[in-house]
Amino acid sequence: MQNMTIGIIGAGNMGRALAAGLAATPGAARALVYDHSDDTRRRAAQQGLAVAKTLAELVAQADVLVLAVKPQHVAALAREIAAGVATGHPLIVSVAAGIRTDALRRWFHSDRVVRAMPNTPALIRAGATVLYAAADIAADDRARVEALLQPVSAVWWVADEDLMDAATAVSGSGPAYFFLAIEALAAAGVQAGLPALIASELAAATALGAARMAGAGTESPATLRRQVTSPNGTTERAIQSFMDQGFMKMFERAVEAARARAAELGEELGAV
Ligand SMILES: NC(=O)c1ccc[n+]([C@@H]2O[C@H](COP(=O)([O-])OP(=O)(O)OC[C@H]3O[C@@H](n4cnc5c(N)ncnc54)[C@H](OP(=O)(O)O)[C@@H]3O)[C@@H](O)[C@H]2O)c1
Repeated sequence: MQNMTIGIIGAGNMGRALAAGLAATPGAARALVYDHSDDTRRRAAQQGLAVAKTLAELVAQADVLVLAVKPQHVAALAREIAAGVATGHPLIVSVAAGIRTDALRRWFHSDRVVRAMPNTPALIRAGATVLYAAADIAADDRARVEALLQPVSAVWWVADEDLMDAATAVSGSGPAYFFLAIEALAAAGVQAGLPALIASELAAATALGAARMAGAGTESPATLRRQVTSPNGTTERAIQSFMDQGFMKMFERAVEAARARAAELGEELGAV
């Protein structure tokens, strides 16, 4: 991977997270970013990222092109870089929610396309990424995408493209759910009398500890929860209160809303 250049188009939340995560990892591929906003390019350079001066320069240098623009901008981007893609024939990795392989292949006039659904914790090399490639994608291209992402993220493949929308709803959008939960726990702590700074640090540190235990995979989250829920204790009261208010259903509905939006984006935008 050291000899490969990953050209990341779009230096927003996701593009910067990937580029910064890769830049911080010795031995990872060289990440080069481009954004059409002068300010965004300047900020990326100040952050220590390698920034291309023009989109054409980035496309010409890239072995792998990561499309990190909003789903609504992918078709226009394809028109901008069509000539460069035809010349260099890079492997194209789209992280855009909803946009399907058939639309990407049509827009970029290239079959060498893989879809990835990463998330922003890639910035601190704690990402979670789901990958999908059509059956005709070569094994070495699959291996390339995996090797590109592994320094910054855990990686799973799915064989059914529809599952990319479910992955978008669980892990692509997922960090925001946990940020919201930390926000809510901190606010409730303040309501219970804690100083705001202590409440917010306690909520974040507790989430981190719990996530590490769940992520270790030695016990299921349900077992870990039961282990800290003593009969008639404080945690049991809180969990009962969550359950009485439909906690599980609330997640089910939220994830379904995000999944349906991803599918809708694919249908709306892929129609052209
Ligand atoms: N954010 C996440 O947590 C997350 C997670 C998983 C996947 N994704 C996917 O990642 C993609 C990017 O999301 P984001 O949140 O990073 O969006 P974002 O913050 O808006 O970043 C996209 C950047 O690309 C720039 N851009 C647009 N068209 C361009 C072009 N033709 N050439 C160069 N730069 C261009 C945008 O500039 P303007 O603002 O001027 O348009 C913006 O700076 C989306 O497709 C999203 O579905 C995001």
